[in-house]
Amino acid sequence: MAIDTCIFDAYGTLFDVTAAAREAASEDGFEALTDTWQTVARDWRDKQLQYTWLRAVTGEHVDFWKVTGDGLDWALEASAIADPKVRDRLMQLYWELSAYPEVPAMLGALKDAGVATGILSNGSPEMLQGAVSSAGVGRLLDHVLSVESVGIFKPSSKVYDMVGRAFGCEAGRVLFVSSNGWDASAAKGYGFCTVWVNRMGLPVDRLDHRPDHVMPDLSGIPALAADL
Ligand code: LAC
Repeated sequence: MAIDTCIFDAYGTLFDVTAAAREAASEDGFEALTDTWQTVARDWRDKQLQYTWLRAVTGEHVDFWKVTGDGLDWALEASAIADPKVRDRLMQLYWELSAYPEVPAMLGALKDAGVATGILSNGSPEMLQGAVSSAGVGRLLDHVLSVESVGIFKPSSKVYDMVGRAFGCEAGRVLFVSSNGWDASAAKGYGFCTVWVNRMGLPVDRLDHRPDHVMPDLSGIPALAADL
């Protein structure tokens, strides 16, 4: 099986979702985050994702920026942080998240090998544009696909359908890369070849479809795509 298209999840996969709380905690005026930023970052991400799944099940869709703000509000209240300046700064930093350091070279190697590349993300088009621009990787991506085109979050198959429509490729020729075990599992069930990027050494999700490959970061993706 030859891979001709490589699709990436965005938040947590290409962009470091813990960077916002970590960076704010190091800035003057945000001492409330000094001892709490790791808890805030974890709660923020957990609630953000839970709200996407719940909204997909109930059909009450709102965009990912709203869900991200709602998750942050829960996380800040749980850590007893009420200062609106902290909320505003964290949301600003989320808009311009850092990419993981290996991302530009990895995408460049895929492009050099003639592989089509793209993002498939829950993020709204505006958020994704903000993150792609601040990471400076826009010229290395053929498409940036947002679930806002179909109005439901992952892991709805309507989201994975967007790849075939945008790239005109068969599912079996797509390498789908995500740091979210549940996303890699659903994408495998859909028919993509999948990589779970397991940076934190977590156990595999107990879902029906196991990822084809597990990697500690993104640096091995070009070699894997060439070998498949
Ligand atoms: C995304 C989330 C799931 O980018 O990380 O779609």
